[in-house]
Amino acid sequence: MKKILLALGTVVLLTACGGGDDAVPAPEEEAVVDEPATEEATGDFDATAARESYEASCIHCHGNNLQGGGGPGLAGGELTAEEIFEVIQNGQGTMPPQNLPSEDAENLAQWIAAQ
Ligand code: HEC
Repeated sequence: MKKILLALGTVVLLTACGGGDDAVPAPEEEAVVDEPATEEATGDFDATAARESYEASCIHCHGNNLQGGGGPGLAGGELTAEEIFEVIQNGQGTMPPQNLPSEDAENLAQWIAAQ
């Protein structure tokens, strides 16, 4: 009988230690990174059309995931949709103006700003 109680006590101790590992805060930090619900804020623009314009006009210099290449990365930038629209229409530095209909440029700018 005593042996059984001893064994039980050991199990409880082990369980208590195991529980300690769960206190690592890493999962919470990841959740915060995932949180911005930009995907849901798609009411303002047509993401499919934007992606098409991007692939036709920008992908060569800014990378297939907006990570940059010949030009700077565009994801997570500080620029507003209006500023991006200006760059598309007028160019900036060594980037030539992009010949997009202004409707497409505006849609694209809003999409990039949301990345
Ligand atoms: C021929 C290559 C090229 C193409 C095509 C191109 N870009 Fe660029 N882009 C650049 C370069 C180079 C810069 C950096 C210009 C500078 O500031 O000197 C830049 C800068 C930018 C910036 C400003 C980034 C910042 O942080 O200041 C935006 C926004 C941008 N491009 C958007 C676009 C969009 C949208 C398209 C497609 C419609 C596009 N670019 C097409 C080369 C290109």
